Amino acid sequence: MRIVDIVEKKRDGGELTRAEIEQLVLGYVKGEVPDYQVSAFLMAVVFRGMTDQETATLTDVMMASGDTVDLSSLPGIKVDKHSTGGVGDTTTLIVAPLVAACGGTVAKMSGRGLGHTGGTLDKLEAIPGVSIEQPMDAFMDMVRMNGLAVIGQSGNLVPADKKLYALRDVTGTIASIPLIASSVMSKKLAAGADAIVLDVKVGSGAFMHTVEEARKLASLMVRIGKKLHRRVEAVLTDMDQPLGLAVGNALEVQEAVNALSGLVGEEEPLMEVSLLLGERMLLLSDVAHSQEEARTMLLDALHSGRGLKKLRAMIEALGGDGSYIDANKISELCKVKQMVPVYPPKDGYLHALDAEKIGVASQMLGAGRAKKEDAIDPAVGLVLHKRVGDRLQTDEPFCTLYVNDSTQLKEAVALIEASMTIGEKQPEAKPLVFGIVKE
Ligand code: URA
Ligand code: CA
Repeated sequence: MRIVDIVEKKRDGGELTRAEIEQLVLGYVKGEVPDYQVSAFLMAVVFRGMTDQETATLTDVMMASGDTVDLSSLPGIKVDKHSTGGVGDTTTLIVAPLVAACGGTVAKMSGRGLGHTGGTLDKLEAIPGVSIEQPMDAFMDMVRMNGLAVIGQSGNLVPADKKLYALRDVTGTIASIPLIASSVMSKKLAAGADAIVLDVKVGSGAFMHTVEEARKLASLMVRIGKKLHRRVEAVLTDMDQPLGLAVGNALEVQEAVNALSGLVGEEEPLMEVSLLLGERMLLLSDVAHSQEEARTMLLDALHSGRGLKKLRAMIEALGGDGSYIDANKISELCKVKQMVPVYPPKDGYLHALDAEKIGVASQMLGAGRAKKEDAIDPAVGLVLHKRVGDRLQTDEPFCTLYVNDSTQLKEAVALIEASMTIGEKQPEAKPLVFGIVKE
């Protein structure tokens, strides 16, 4: 078949075979199929969609386009977690050590932040000495020793996604449930874990803006994972405001260290989502047998300080200075030239907070990248003082900006002001968790 025939078949709503998907995707990775034909194909998928079978095949073909990790020599059920892009979401740094402290085995490869969302690797690199690029045998040794390792994705993991994602980013073809599902799942499956807990975000700061869309995406990813013989579950959680109060790299590590030191209340959204993910991870890897048992184990790991110790061991295994993993010392990494309070534009109640705008504001201060090549400043970002539902007053700071380079400070402040929807009456409380998807 010619590539144009495959594009036309999808344009007309046909179901592609494995051979056709391989021809297109593998040809693209090899540089034999040009961007313009793949762009046309991606746009056809945006409008026509894909069947479950096509999406599973696409995922499988993408996964096999590069290296895959074999964790089978490690004992037990290896569990991974993935959040579909959040703001102020530092759950990995909280839940991975807690799960390991409960006897789970966490082997995770993380990505960098791009645009308004943060990435775990950038947060880890905020700690002096940390090297996230590790050879595979070092990764396996870390998992064996600590029951836990989080490293950067190896260079040749799912090259098909690297190329396709970059093309989707500039052709308006990110927003497609089968394309997002295959992109996420190809990377998770290639990274080798037996069990995967997905945190699918819903809201202004997320890829999915409604619960219905998020449920569709979650269910598709769970079904793809099962077709490819892994245990997969998803939780649907709110991203209509940043999950934690800190947005930035060292600032989010600080929030994680505080959380593991028992300084963040269990009813805080960041803790609630972390504990929920931890429960699902312990259940899916057969370490716990009921939700109550899982919760008790996690709280015991938290209150005993074993979770914090695990985070420290994980950082030290990556070459990092573990002495920073201490609630009294971590603030040294968040020292900046200027701390700038931002006030609400009027009195009232905070009805909504656009997480994407908050993420972009933090990026403008230097905490994130607009382009892949951009350098980031680990110390900068912002800390919120108010959450949705809180009363705002024009003389009480809404947040504090951590600033080293004030070139875009004005724009960042304007964005933060624009991120707030303020009403006169207290809004009704919204749920943080919209459900658990098992099939
Ligand atoms: N995250 C990914 O890794 N891929 C997507 O397509 C969207 C979110
Ligand atoms: Ca994140």
